[in-house]
Amino acid sequence: VTGEYDRPSAPPGARRLHLNERTDGCSPRALEALRGLSGADAACYPDYGDVIAATARYFGLTAAEFVLTNGLDEGLHAAATFALRGRFDGEAVVIEPAFDMYAVVIEASAGRIVRLDPLPDLAPGIERVHSAITPRTRLIFINTPMNPTGLEISPDEIYEIARRAPEALVFVDEAYAEFGAGSLLDDRARLGSAPNVLVGRTFAKAYGLAGLRAGLVTGNPGPIAALKAIVPPYSLNAAAAKALPAALDDAAHTRSYVADVRRSRELLYAACDRAGLGYWKSGGNFVLIRAADAAPRLLKVFAERGIAVRDRTASGPGGCIRVTAGRLDDTRAVVDAIEETMCGAR
Ligand SMILES: Cc1ncc(COP(=O)(O)O)c(C=O)c1O
Repeated sequence: VTGEYDRPSAPPGARRLHLNERTDGCSPRALEALRGLSGADAACYPDYGDVIAATARYFGLTAAEFVLTNGLDEGLHAAATFALRGRFDGEAVVIEPAFDMYAVVIEASAGRIVRLDPLPDLAPGIERVHSAITPRTRLIFINTPMNPTGLEISPDEIYEIARRAPEALVFVDEAYAEFGAGSLLDDRARLGSAPNVLVGRTFAKAYGLAGLRAGLVTGNPGPIAALKAIVPPYSLNAAAAKALPAALDDAAHTRSYVADVRRSRELLYAACDRAGLGYWKSGGNFVLIRAADAAPRLLKVFAERGIAVRDRTASGPGGCIRVTAGRLDDTRAVVDAIEETMCGAR
């Protein structure tokens, strides 16, 4: 067993660019909803009528087509339990480099991890999934946009995997979908015709609710009912249940942040180009920089300037550093650090 998920910390007051959080906070409407919480809200088990209705409306789903979870992490756990429990030889396929929680939830469900090792360019290499499918394959994690590269996997590629592995659950982790090219939810009819595909979403990223813990899993009512039987009855706490409808209602707040993220990504690419650093074009709210030999120097300068980033050197060849792309002033601080380290002070 790999063990517990490591919680990467940041010094107090640092620019938190290490966990792909929303760097300008949640919607003021969500904050107002939180301020309206009463003693009774804290004392009573939450009622989910409003939050289920608001989420169903927002995504155009029926209540039978989704389950709300305590962050997408809990959705990953529930999916792994559903797919792997009672199958002592069940295999779960993970494309590396991957979000660390996949290994945690597979091991917690006594599954065997089938890791597809990182390719030199960290591309997903989807056709490798085809050859990893065996009669024991029960679960396949697909993450798009991928963490940590930000690379995206097309619906055609995903549905081809689902077609080739009809006995397996294909869990499509769309934690960063709002920042990328699209979602499987954009074509409901196609998703509806693939009963072994589930889609995971989170309200931690584009909606700025990471601290409250709220996510969802959607797909065909059959597997969703199975997940509902696994997720505890009061998984979303009262604060998340109150804040989420308000956050969903503030579409302008989400839209403007997505625009900032896209602008920040471009500024980071341009800085890397000027500094001679590699990077991956990202569909997420982060950019993975391939700093190679310069990685230790850059990490030192980021730390000195109170910029918390994620050292992903272990992700593959070429010293990789993942930086959240969010608020423009944070991005400018990163760009200055890159330029002054790589190009000399100007
Ligand atoms: C790819 C991916 N999936 C899932 C999650 C977990 O989301 P949540 O905070 O909603 O549990 C993250 C968080 O960083 C992530 O990067």
